[in-house]
Amino acid sequence: MTSAPQHRPGDHVIVLFGATGDLAKRKLLPGLFHLAAAGLLPHKYRIIGTSPAQFAISTEEFREHAKQACEDFCITKPTGDPWEAFAPNLSFASSDPDNFAPLVEEVERAEKAIGGSPRRLFHLAIPPDAFMSIVAMLGQSGLATDRSRVIIEKPFGYDLESARKLDAAVHAVFDESQVFRIDHFLGKESVDNILAFRFANGLFEPVWNRDYIRYVQIDVPETLSIEGRANFYDKTGAYRDMVVTHLFQVLGFVAMEPPTALNAKQLRAEKTKVFESMRSIDPHHVVRGQYEGYRSEPGVAPDSQTETMVAVRAEVENWRWQGVPFFLRSGKSMGAGRQVITLGFHEPPLRMFPAHRKSISDGRRNEIIIDFADPGSITTKFLAKEPGAEMSLSTATMVFKYADSFASANALEGYERLILDAMIGDQSLFTSSDGIERLWEISEPLLQDPPPVEPYAPGTWGPDSISKLIAPFRWHLPGTG
Ligand code: BG6
Repeated sequence: MTSAPQHRPGDHVIVLFGATGDLAKRKLLPGLFHLAAAGLLPHKYRIIGTSPAQFAISTEEFREHAKQACEDFCITKPTGDPWEAFAPNLSFASSDPDNFAPLVEEVERAEKAIGGSPRRLFHLAIPPDAFMSIVAMLGQSGLATDRSRVIIEKPFGYDLESARKLDAAVHAVFDESQVFRIDHFLGKESVDNILAFRFANGLFEPVWNRDYIRYVQIDVPETLSIEGRANFYDKTGAYRDMVVTHLFQVLGFVAMEPPTALNAKQLRAEKTKVFESMRSIDPHHVVRGQYEGYRSEPGVAPDSQTETMVAVRAEVENWRWQGVPFFLRSGKSMGAGRQVITLGFHEPPLRMFPAHRKSISDGRRNEIIIDFADPGSITTKFLAKEPGAEMSLSTATMVFKYADSFASANALEGYERLILDAMIGDQSLFTSSDGIERLWEISEPLLQDPPPVEPYAPGTWGPDSISKLIAPFRWHLPGTG
């Protein structure tokens, strides 16, 4: 899984549900074009955009829409030969739950043009409440065959019961080997690199456990507000949007045992074992915040109790992590946009450095900081002697930056990497049904009895009580050294 595939996927018809939506515009259309320009799409492929008839556009309009999306969001600009080669592969057809005929005809036309037996990849970039009806229609219309695969966006379900129902509906049409529950954080180079960093280095592998590590933080504050997504966000909130989805998946990579091989079966099994070991989330170990002004956003209920920020203390009760708290935080309209994992280490008894004995009790001097926002970096912090006649210590850092170190031009964005993996049929970086159901299961106590939302000023780090949640430690962000 973990190296970008060297060979192109076999021929494909890709069907993009939600083709005129925000995700398609920001990530999927630019991502597909970048893959095409990099020579990583199949030799023969067609991309069919689809939406309900009321939002349908013509093929010409869809090509223009895709071009604009690439103009705005792709590192490869839609010009010259690459665009001329890509654009004719795009077309548009409407699909409504009670009328899939236009889409079925378009898929048949595309397959005929390609020839042979291309695979079908359906990408459901649509609101979660539409997943079930579209999957059912893929079954009834005959579009889902054993040559088909489906990418399903997040959140996968709303709670345990709805995730189980959704899994049942999906499995009524697709075999689990055809289902790709996407989490684009797992497609990020520097999240994938956690496995290399942990398991390929004698320097780090032996210390990656409770004997050496005191706490772990996974912190993903965002400066963005809800950006006009009230319809989705007010029903979802930060815990479902970010924690159940992205942050727990990252936690799975940080905490997993060494898999016997880097293949889908072993990786997913190890991640699920971490989730199995997690204690149910205790509502007393959760802070829910709501930025001031959220209730006045268009589309948000005036008395909304939805959290726009959440901080959680999670525990992985297994041999490796017993007693090591995992602090997770994410929110909108916060002080900075960062994606950071911090591992704090126990320190030796610093008796021979009297000047430093007092200030190190929170373990802030020895940390590994993995910044997984593209392109990503890893920093280690340690104590070093300050130059001079006295033995005074100061915090020093060693930094590895992806951007300065490798051919970062070869890097694929999270979605690009994952769409490519789905075309190849590699599920390593996708979530399994038992993994996601377990995450909803441990979330039940919180979802059933959430603490009240506490206000925070936009541009800050959340309500004051997040400091109490993490005590005696401190949040690594903001950069307090
Ligand atoms: C999405 C969430 O899955 O991830 C958004 O729905 C969030 O609310 C986004 O902003 C963050 O991902 P990235 O890659 O844009 O930082």
